[in-house]
Amino acid sequence: MKILHASAEYFPYIKMGGLADMLASLTKEQSKTEEVYVALPLLGTMGKEPNWTGKEYKALLSEDAKEETMAVSLLAKARFLEAVESGIKLYFFDSELFRSLHTIYGTAEEHYRFAIFSYACYALSQILQVDAFHAHDWHTALSLTLQKNSSKSIPSLFTIHNLAYQGDHPHWMTGFLKEDPFLLVTSPFDHNEKCNYMKAGILSAGQITTVSPGYREETLTEPNGFGLSYVLNKRKVDYTGILNGIDPDEWNPESDKRIFQNYDISNWKEGKQKNKEELYREIGRPNLPLDAPLIGLIGRLTYQKGFPTFLQAFLERRHLPHRYVVLGSGDPETENAFFHLSDSMPDVFYFYKGYNESLAHKIEAASDFFLMPSLFEPCGLNQMYSHVYGTIPMVSRVGGLRDTVEESNVLKFKTGIVFEPDDKSSLGYALERAKDLFVSPERDVVVENMMKLDWTWTKRKLEYDTIYQTAIELLQ
Ligand code: ADP
Ligand code: GLC
Repeated sequence: MKILHASAEYFPYIKMGGLADMLASLTKEQSKTEEVYVALPLLGTMGKEPNWTGKEYKALLSEDAKEETMAVSLLAKARFLEAVESGIKLYFFDSELFRSLHTIYGTAEEHYRFAIFSYACYALSQILQVDAFHAHDWHTALSLTLQKNSSKSIPSLFTIHNLAYQGDHPHWMTGFLKEDPFLLVTSPFDHNEKCNYMKAGILSAGQITTVSPGYREETLTEPNGFGLSYVLNKRKVDYTGILNGIDPDEWNPESDKRIFQNYDISNWKEGKQKNKEELYREIGRPNLPLDAPLIGLIGRLTYQKGFPTFLQAFLERRHLPHRYVVLGSGDPETENAFFHLSDSMPDVFYFYKGYNESLAHKIEAASDFFLMPSLFEPCGLNQMYSHVYGTIPMVSRVGGLRDTVEESNVLKFKTGIVFEPDDKSSLGYALERAKDLFVSPERDVVVENMMKLDWTWTKRKLEYDTIYQTAIELLQ
């Protein structure tokens, strides 16, 4: 089967969060049995120089270029440049709209950029004549509407990675959707007096998935549906939750080149201790005690991730022996609070502001616990990375976190610590439990339970296969 994915992120070329990792690892698994193509934008700055093949493809179908609109002229000048990565063909959308960018999100006129990109992805699916078209998040959602309206419609799947971002814009900004080459009726986009790409994607896709069964359930009601639960309910029978997998070539303490010392299930205690010692040295805090629990936190510092709840709980439990290493950037108030703690309590707290892939791996390897206090979490990847690295995840009971971490009373099933979201007392009590677990013989059992878990794509890739088949049958 020939599958074309359309996405704004793909590791290591463009990564802002989990979407990049999820898609790179899913396609790697799919490419063992399928022909896999990925369309993504070509930015002015990329995480890696692509391995170009020299082939290029058009981004505009000749039948769609009747009028010389702005969009038509941009698409006529643009190209897809082909590259290869581990047997997967990557198609980089080379357009002046993206070439000038150094970061993918948050720039002015992104509703326009992603509409043009979505059209181009749709055109590429028609040119490559793929069997299944798989779009990810609102950035490529519009391509599903184009696909649905086409006389040569291709079976399609839409994966929602995060319903909090919907690509909605005032209607007056999106008049171009009615012109060439889009020619769209905009009513499927109407939502709260805005033009909403995510909504149109949900209504247009052959099948819809999200990245965990838990999040699927949550999004069918408000507030986690972010206003779109009624649309998801309309498509309920075509909507499935499939848990993300991880790439054992990238995230594996036995072979990870970014960490200080490799280790496995047989020597995790010594391995993690050495990583902790070296991490403390690297961050300029060589005197931090190695026998106190280290809690790692990594992520985008946004509302979703619930860091303010952690800050409140931390201030109430300052007496605990834990040390904290935090990596992330985002909301200025949260950044400032972390900077303040890092300056005023250097023997307890360390904060690195920014994005640092290598430091993320080092924190996973060095930490005893990994904290994810999310208010909602479609899947979350770090709790699974933590399992593999023998780092006990402490997570709020939401979305993919509750699907992957179990604080069971039966020791052989226990794989972490779970608390209630947006609840500083529950989080504070979890910090107390971490203290006890750290010195208990139970810790060894929990760590070994976790390190035996299989979070690879092997089984879950088959779940996607079933969904593609359903989308194909629906069009027959
Ligand atoms: P989300 O996609 O919502 O950000 P996920 O848990 O799915 O959350 O994925 C986040 C990914 O991004 C993980 O691989 C995490 O290690 C990485 N990440 C997030 N922030 C940073 C950062 N500041 N530096 C390095 N990696 C980061
Ligand atoms: C989103 C979600 C995250 C998920 C990732 C990959 O960014 O916030 O929970 O793991 O996508 O699917």
